[in-house]
Amino acid sequence: MSKNLSELSGRKGLQENLFEELGVAAKRSGTVSKAKMEEMADKFLVGKGNIYGTTSFYDFLKEENKGKQVYVCNGSACMTAGTQDDVRAKLGSVFKTEEIGEMCCMGRCHENATFNYKGKNYSGADIDNIHTIKEGTGKTKEKYNVDSLGTQILTTLFPGVDYYYTTLAVALRRSREDLLNELKESNLRGRGGAGFPIAFKMNTAKDMDSAVKFVVCNADEGDPGAYSDRYLLEEQPHSVLLGMMIAGYIIGSETGVLYIRAEYPEAIDIVQKAIDQLRSKKLLGKNILGTGFNYDFKIIKAQGAYICGEETALLSSIEGQRPEVRVRPPYPAQQGLFNKPTIVNNVETLACIPYIIQNGGAKFAAIGRGKSTGTKLVSLDGFFNKPGIYEVDMGTPLDTVIKKLGGGYTKKIKALHIGGPLGGLVPANKTKELTIDFESFAENGFLLGHASVVCLPDEFPIIKYIQHLFQFTAHESCGKCFPCRLGSTRGSELLKKATTEQYKIDRELFKDLLDTLETGSLCALGGGLPLPVKNALQYFDKELKQYFTK
Ligand SMILES: Cc1cc2nc3c(=O)[nH]c(=O)nc-3n(C[C@H](O)[C@H](O)[C@H](O)COP(=O)(O)O)c2cc1C
Ligand code: SF4
Repeated sequence: MSKNLSELSGRKGLQENLFEELGVAAKRSGTVSKAKMEEMADKFLVGKGNIYGTTSFYDFLKEENKGKQVYVCNGSACMTAGTQDDVRAKLGSVFKTEEIGEMCCMGRCHENATFNYKGKNYSGADIDNIHTIKEGTGKTKEKYNVDSLGTQILTTLFPGVDYYYTTLAVALRRSREDLLNELKESNLRGRGGAGFPIAFKMNTAKDMDSAVKFVVCNADEGDPGAYSDRYLLEEQPHSVLLGMMIAGYIIGSETGVLYIRAEYPEAIDIVQKAIDQLRSKKLLGKNILGTGFNYDFKIIKAQGAYICGEETALLSSIEGQRPEVRVRPPYPAQQGLFNKPTIVNNVETLACIPYIIQNGGAKFAAIGRGKSTGTKLVSLDGFFNKPGIYEVDMGTPLDTVIKKLGGGYTKKIKALHIGGPLGGLVPANKTKELTIDFESFAENGFLLGHASVVCLPDEFPIIKYIQHLFQFTAHESCGKCFPCRLGSTRGSELLKKATTEQYKIDRELFKDLLDTLETGSLCALGGGLPLPVKNALQYFDKELKQYFTK
């Protein structure tokens, strides 16, 4: 059925896009009316049930979003910083309770107290100006540090469009195989979590016999605590766009799609302006630079669903389907968007491509440690004296990032949640054993992921944190497989009962639940949740044992 829906959706393609139109339809009231859903079903020749299935999934399309004016960040970093109650109370003096909704992480983890009003994000001390913000005169004063240690690839000063795109002119005169070889030599691995070599995916897509192929940029950075992709989209959009164009040339694609989360409204505007700039310089469209290469971009604004960061859910989302994770094979590189060969890559992965093509794969491969080549962006939250985005060579000691770049902690920290909600929970006394690379984290029982750091201060209860992770997963589960759909909710219920009633969780039962999630889930949402929970049980037993049977 979904295969047919992909074909159907592909008939109108990206020009008239169902998902995009649902977003526009929900703009005024916060949801899509029944009449509009029926109209869309007729227009796009899909069942009313399918449209309802899609609409009811997304935080910013569903019925519950109706009438919401302002949103408080409910992400992990604002939670451990303890700023949410104050923001909610201050918003409550200006908005009615039913006008206040929740949003998960707007990437302002460096100063917290984050909220969104009328499509703009605010944080830090902005809440104290809520009256002027509501009147339309208040502005955000957001500021974060950007620095690097080692090679600068992603944080260099942008030299201007004309100079920058000479790389494209040179690249388009080289053969596709030649460019692919540079990427193979660089051993560039995906920065979106799994660390999969990009050249491998590209090779598969390149060899597919299809007139239509897609390059999709996964800009759905949903991990609370991560804002490195936001930094790249807002401050270095041309690195991402040029990376996508070169990727398109290599695999034989004429279309780049950027799937950008709605929680990053500024990023959407900035990337659109960068695309317009390229168009005005005739660097997009047909026969670019007289080379016969055709290319254009399309931005798809997401609508609030963490699972859309998972690449197959993301593709279903663009197609206007309910974003359920797809079974692989076929892999997206074989059969992706509208059933056409598609490479899906993270923002940071794509942003590395221009450097590799300019300087050669060998130079990139010489940076880093072992199989983790190049540099990595790290996001530090508001518990650091110098919170911000830091670029370091792979293999840099984590403690160097914490002390030298981050300037140490603002208060006593007991754990660091690194790599998003599915990343490991690192006790503060273990940071000296880790280096910023895929292998070091995996060998020590953690996960590098997006290399986002959310701190848990000494007084923050670990039980509350793991309850938050179960709740997060239960809310975001796509529902395709039972272990995640049921297991996340049951885990959340067990933890709630243990903290609010005279009840102790059966240790064996809880272990069973974690093992079932880990081995039985179709994707890394359900499958990844046990990692931080197991870390918590291992390292914080003293604090947690009161909630469990012996
Ligand atoms: C629940 C879940 C959420 C994910 N979220 C993101 C995300 O926000 N951004 C991202 O690039 N990859 C995310 N991924 C990983 C993607 O599925 C995919 O591996 C990635 O986009 C591939 O790009 P890369 O090879 O450049 O890393 C997520 C995976 C899962 C299971
Ligand atoms: S693990 Fe969760 S999110 Fe992933 S496919 Fe299963 S139900 Fe969907």
